[in-house]
Amino acid sequence: AHQWRGVLAEYREHLPFAENDTLLTLGEGGTPLIPAPALSTAVGAEVHVKVEGMNPTGSFKDRGMVSAMSKALSEGATAVVCASTGNTSASAAAYATAAGLTCAVLLPQGKIAAGKLAQAVVHGAKLIQVDGNFDDCLEIARKLDAEHPIELVNSVNPYRLQGQKTAAFEVADALGKAPDIHILPVGNAGNISAYWMGYREYREAGHTDSLPQMWGFQAAGAAPFVAGHPIPDPETVATAIRIGAPASWHLAVEARDDSDGLIDAVTDQQILDAQKLLAGEVGIFVEPASAAGVAGLLQQAEKGLVPAGATIAITVTGNGLKDIDTAMSQHDLTPTVVPVDIAAAAEAIGL
Ligand code: F0G
Repeated sequence: AHQWRGVLAEYREHLPFAENDTLLTLGEGGTPLIPAPALSTAVGAEVHVKVEGMNPTGSFKDRGMVSAMSKALSEGATAVVCASTGNTSASAAAYATAAGLTCAVLLPQGKIAAGKLAQAVVHGAKLIQVDGNFDDCLEIARKLDAEHPIELVNSVNPYRLQGQKTAAFEVADALGKAPDIHILPVGNAGNISAYWMGYREYREAGHTDSLPQMWGFQAAGAAPFVAGHPIPDPETVATAIRIGAPASWHLAVEARDDSDGLIDAVTDQQILDAQKLLAGEVGIFVEPASAAGVAGLLQQAEKGLVPAGATIAITVTGNGLKDIDTAMSQHDLTPTVVPVDIAAAAEAIGL
């Protein structure tokens, strides 16, 4: 029997590691691409969902983090730092533990989902809450990296995107071709840039013969690409993508334009509705930010802009269990209480 070896070992020939580098793994990658009949019917296309919440720390960040952390370890770093809206810090904390490195995380105070905060805590990161937003945190992290012996593991570290591009390889492997359209949420814009790099490299390597359009979706209150300039005070229920000044700006614009794609916005209500639909009609529980791509697809369909029969892959980026407060706030939580009695239980179920 064969066990998945993690993205660095599985895709080593596509990654810039030297022979002597130490390659870490916590079993990241190899996530399923699942057909979503409810979505396919709704939009008149063939929709597949890439479930990145099944990574070891529950988000796609593990692909890039295993790569950046392996490089940092191989180059003799002793400490790493990142700014985060929660998932990057959860992943950094876990992989720093695996690497035996000290990890410091800078988080916007009061704007991190509880599950993500718990991950940084249990993995033993130095947790610094900043009285500012993600963009402020990233600025501090960059300066710490420049002025102190500490390695930055945000997606401005090129090894992050190198690791993250493996998700595109997996989608192409699962479909046997590149999809016609690849959809994903956009925050700091690393992931859309990494997928585009992955699809291009896989085609150049002869594994596929076409490229998808890249469709990115931002939360309306945090949509700098739609505005065409940074947003000073981003706000959205999808805290993971509450970002006003994306670091990978130029790469994301290139992915959008070179792929003949788009980056558009969806409202918080559309995001919450899409989260509910994924959980209730497809069977996949994602965090709010991860539903932005699905909300975007539905919006495009309403406008009649989804090509009939197209093969569409959507990345859902993070596990719903990370932020149960937001999800539960959308449901009636009044419990049905019965005595210890079969008849009462049967009646309550409606049998
Ligand atoms: N979805 C989730 C669940 C995220 O955590 C993020 C980013 C994104 C989408 C957007 O991806 O930044 O590559 O465009 N989270 C970062 C973090 C910023 O700190 O965890 P992106």
